[in-house]
Amino acid sequence: MQNGLLRRDAWPKIAGTLGYLDDLPFEGLHGAIVRSTVARGILRRILYDPAFDWSPFVIVEPADIPGENVCPGLMEDQPFLSGGEIRFYGEPLALIACADLPLLRDALKHIRIEADPLEPLLSLEAASSNAITVFGNDNSFKTIEITKGDTQAVFSDPAQRLFEGLYETAGQEHLYLEPQGMEALYREGVIVVKGSMQCPGYVAGALKRLSGETVEIEQTPTGGGFGGKEDYPSLIAGYVWLLARKSGRNVRIVYGRSEDMAYTTKRHPARISYRTAIDPNGKIAAMEVNFEIDAGAYCTLSPVVLSRGALHACGLYDFSSVSLLARALATNTPPSGAFRGFGAPQAIFALERHMDDLARWIGEDPLDFRRRHLPGAGSTTLTGAPIREADALRDLLERAASESDYTRRRDALSVGTTPLRGIGMALFMHGGGFTGSGESFLASRVRLEAGESGRVTIRIISTEIGQGASTVLPALVAQELGISAELIDYALPNTATGSDSGPTVASRTTMVIGDLLCRAARKLREALNFYADDEAFRTALKHHLKRGGERVFESVFSPPGDIVWDEEHYRGDAYLGYSLGCTVAEVQIDPISYRVRVMELYALSDIGRVVNPLLAQGQVYGGMVQAMGYALTEELIYRDGRLLNPRLCDYMIPVAADVPPMRAVFVQSDEKPKGLGELPMDGAGAAIANAVADALGMRITKLPITPQTILEALR
Ligand code: MOS
Repeated sequence: MQNGLLRRDAWPKIAGTLGYLDDLPFEGLHGAIVRSTVARGILRRILYDPAFDWSPFVIVEPADIPGENVCPGLMEDQPFLSGGEIRFYGEPLALIACADLPLLRDALKHIRIEADPLEPLLSLEAASSNAITVFGNDNSFKTIEITKGDTQAVFSDPAQRLFEGLYETAGQEHLYLEPQGMEALYREGVIVVKGSMQCPGYVAGALKRLSGETVEIEQTPTGGGFGGKEDYPSLIAGYVWLLARKSGRNVRIVYGRSEDMAYTTKRHPARISYRTAIDPNGKIAAMEVNFEIDAGAYCTLSPVVLSRGALHACGLYDFSSVSLLARALATNTPPSGAFRGFGAPQAIFALERHMDDLARWIGEDPLDFRRRHLPGAGSTTLTGAPIREADALRDLLERAASESDYTRRRDALSVGTTPLRGIGMALFMHGGGFTGSGESFLASRVRLEAGESGRVTIRIISTEIGQGASTVLPALVAQELGISAELIDYALPNTATGSDSGPTVASRTTMVIGDLLCRAARKLREALNFYADDEAFRTALKHHLKRGGERVFESVFSPPGDIVWDEEHYRGDAYLGYSLGCTVAEVQIDPISYRVRVMELYALSDIGRVVNPLLAQGQVYGGMVQAMGYALTEELIYRDGRLLNPRLCDYMIPVAADVPPMRAVFVQSDEKPKGLGELPMDGAGAAIANAVADALGMRITKLPITPQTILEALR
């Protein structure tokens, strides 16, 4: 292995010596959650079986909450524990803990929920049509309207031809390796909360509201997040804190796989329709987009998922007139939440399928149709900002087409000798970092601490969740200092000792936090006298500290001057910049079982400078496989608001045998690293769906594309 490429946590993970929360030694009580057994209703009471011995248990109900019973989100609507209104099956109502885990599991069987049920709202379609109203007067947590150009004028022009498409996507489970888990520990009489999480700052904020105190939060080595550990861990953190406070003991809650699958957040299901006007030259003249996502029972992060989805719904194509309406709608299902891509995979599936449907409708090759809609010098984004990536996008598409041998392969497939084989592509982008003015509001801060030993420690709250931050961030600092990465330590994130570098989300860590760390490293470098190598650096650093020189070097985010965003009108630069991707997929469909097999995936990505090629490649491979499951097999089956398949045996994610040959290639149009984590998840599903549509010669409008949906479509 080339020096510096191997991830720092590789060997501890492979050898099994790196403990996740449930592997760490623990002394105290195990906690569990008492949940609702109706999807919607009014809680009458919780019945604790009088024949059962409750003396070894601690029970927490809403009245035990010292601060506010509100888990902070974008809307202050979700309680830690509901004391009255029940909005989804499995909603937490009370907490229980004891030292004996089997006894705790037994106790849960002796608790019954009495509730007056109400008719639940269980589908996005029903929410959209206001069949039942469960929130506000139109079920909408957030509505966004974006207008570009004059669509009305175009649509009223009789020379235009109209084409419509409705595209639907289902939810998706994160299936991180390590289920959710948190523990509250007494340290010198004070409760500290540790656990599996992406965003220690979010957990700290939630506990402040719940407890009225500042609680120290520490991350434990985390086995995957994919967005699922963005906001949800705040709830479990609250539960262990409440149980620890009431019992005076340490408390740990670790979800089992089924509990995790059934009750934590999922990707937002979506319904996205395009009504498109094509001019006599076969160019898209105007589009009306209706974008709806199923937010579930509480608002959580849905407004920003909606916003990102809407802002990716026109890609970076040269569309002059668009009118878009986007709504995040409430239903009585477990709250939807962040998931790798954050609204973009839904949008890109719909857009890229629509582009293929349009191309086929006018009788043009999908590649040529895309070529004719690439942005040029004067083109603007949906929100009217200049498309700075126009040249890069053109290069990317051409290179992807030639390297994947798209045209030759497409022609070979359409000869008809192998009727159920197809090829499809998707061209897409991902806005890096928070949307709009988000990064300015966050004002992330990073800290480097110089040590007497001549080493440097990164003290931030950006987390390693499997994506490689603990390898890539030290590498960036080391590059800036001109020394080897072995001299840079990355401290486990802790809110008491780390600077507030914001949440680990939105493909922002390498791009935004990495850049800030480079700035802090530059300050350190300038503070030292000349050094030529590692040894000289250590000597210079020790000398610097002995002289009483600065120990801590920080830097804080400030927005680049040429980025302007108007949140009220959705105008301007929605992102700091875009990473670009083009994925080509080839599929084969069994003519009897209708099972789709992905034969090959090719991904060309432009993420600026690639810091660690090996990890970057891993991100693309992993993202594409996750997208493959999203596109083809992963199906959450609900009845009356209850998930029926919260198990790995009947929720089908791709396994090694399903993974086709993959190629991940990078082009670099920028000196600085841009976001990568979400990009490969955004486009591969769309490319696969386009390949299936190509193979069958018909429109595919729903994910996942299971054999049943193909059969129904063929009928
Ligand atoms: Mo995320 S989906 O952790 O921005």
